[in-house]
Amino acid sequence: MGSAQAFLCLAVVLAMAAAAAAQAKHSQCLDNPPDLSLRGGEAGKVVSDLPGGFRAYVTGKAKSRHAVVLASDVFGFEAPILRKIADKVGEAGYFVMVPDFFNGDFYDTSKNISEWIKFHSPVKAAEDAKPLFAALKKEGKSIAVGGYCWGGKFGAKVAKTDDIKVVCLSHPSTVTADDMKEVKCPIEILGAQNDTSTPPKLVYQFVEVLRQRTQIPYFAKIFPGVAHGFACRYNTTDPFAVRTAEEALAYMLDWFNKYLK
Ligand SMILES: *[C@@H]1O[C@H](CO)[C@@H](O)[C@H](O)[C@H]1NC(C)=O
Ligand SMILES: *[C@@H]1O[C@H](CO)[C@@H](O)[C@H](O)[C@H]1NC(C)=O
Ligand SMILES: *[C@@H]1O[C@H](CO)[C@@H](O)[C@H](O)[C@H]1NC(C)=O
Repeated sequence: MGSAQAFLCLAVVLAMAAAAAAQAKHSQCLDNPPDLSLRGGEAGKVVSDLPGGFRAYVTGKAKSRHAVVLASDVFGFEAPILRKIADKVGEAGYFVMVPDFFNGDFYDTSKNISEWIKFHSPVKAAEDAKPLFAALKKEGKSIAVGGYCWGGKFGAKVAKTDDIKVVCLSHPSTVTADDMKEVKCPIEILGAQNDTSTPPKLVYQFVEVLRQRTQIPYFAKIFPGVAHGFACRYNTTDPFAVRTAEEALAYMLDWFNKYLK
């Protein structure tokens, strides 16, 4: 190889490495931020001063003995689509709570995610939420957690406690195969074919761990043709995206109906 050719080759390799790094840095967790103008027609309301100091969007059947806590992605509990999902879960007969785990400091694209996440760890939030779960249990409610993206890690952490009966993780982020070793309740994982945050091969690793845990019911599904965020941050004018998200919600509800007793 002549030196000019070698140089060219090196340049191509470097360009490819740079592209790969940019790809790795780009987080799908920050794609498709919610469109707040879609708000309206909500069935629930925001309540403050809940145990643990939280406020939350609450909807559904207040007297239900079954509570579903939905843990949002980094964009927080004001997202219109997430609230619609909460209302639909409520229509299925549950008491539903979507806590504001960020105390109003929602991620938006003007913020540096590495800085923001330092103050909003899902692992710490799972600790901080203990009083919230305790209060629901004291009211005689058994609890399910449905976590999306950031909330998926929250859900995985809470699933290691005795506080909840069942968990569903939709396109989780930063969940590890090791997390699966300690999960104590039935767990459902809804992944996406094009998810670069929790790619299908990572979901298979979760399944490999769960397969060996014969006491823990699990279910995993990879939805084709969609990317990370598909269950709660989808294009509302794209029929395929809408249908896929509805399907994900139906899977979550079936899972809760089966195990939330
Ligand atoms: C974001 O913050 C991290 C440190 O937490 C820093 O290394 C990085 O350069 C910042 N990114 C931008 C785009 O400012
Ligand atoms: C999924 O990935 C394929 C192949 O990279 C791409 O053609 C398609 O547009 C992606 N779809 C979505 C919804 O991200
Ligand atoms: C949403 O979906 C519609 C219909 O498929 C499409 O025309 C539009 O470009 C999409 N919007 C975004 C932001 O991808």
